Amino acid sequence: MPNRFTIEDCKMVALNRINNRSGNITVVQNDVDIPFSVRRVYYLYDVPGGESRGAHGHRTLQQLIMAVSGSFEVTIDDGRSKKSFVLNRPFFGLHVPPGMWRDISNFSSGAICLVLASGYYDEGDYLRSYDDFLSFRGIPK
Ligand code: TYD
Repeated sequence: MPNRFTIEDCKMVALNRINNRSGNITVVQNDVDIPFSVRRVYYLYDVPGGESRGAHGHRTLQQLIMAVSGSFEVTIDDGRSKKSFVLNRPFFGLHVPPGMWRDISNFSSGAICLVLASGYYDEGDYLRSYDDFLSFRGIPK
């Protein structure tokens, strides 16, 4: 079945920010602040200048991608169109629904990319080649 999500479904989610003199807290609660339940958290850090990450798709996984420190750019591709998002604030997250190809690039020095994911790690959920991704989307090459 062709994936029904498109890049228009990839949205920046404005999270809360509890602020006082001694700093900020941002809280992310399952199904309250984000539209899925988190099963896994991981973070990318110490990314060398000029490197990019991602370059794959997921069949079913949903993610919220956040720049908890520094900045980077996330490019989402649904096989027909692409859209880029600059993440540079720790109280915004990019919601990536299933079936999107993503690239993460332009990491600032010291950037930390926090990913909240709807599922456990499963290599079988990855679409590692762009051709497989297009087939999954039902898009002719
Ligand atoms: P990958 O998701 O391909 O990284 P990126 O998209 O950021 O370039 O993962 C890189 C490696 O880490 C790959 O060998 C799989 C492994 N990995 C895990 O074992 N568990 C995980 O939860 C993640 C995200 C990756």
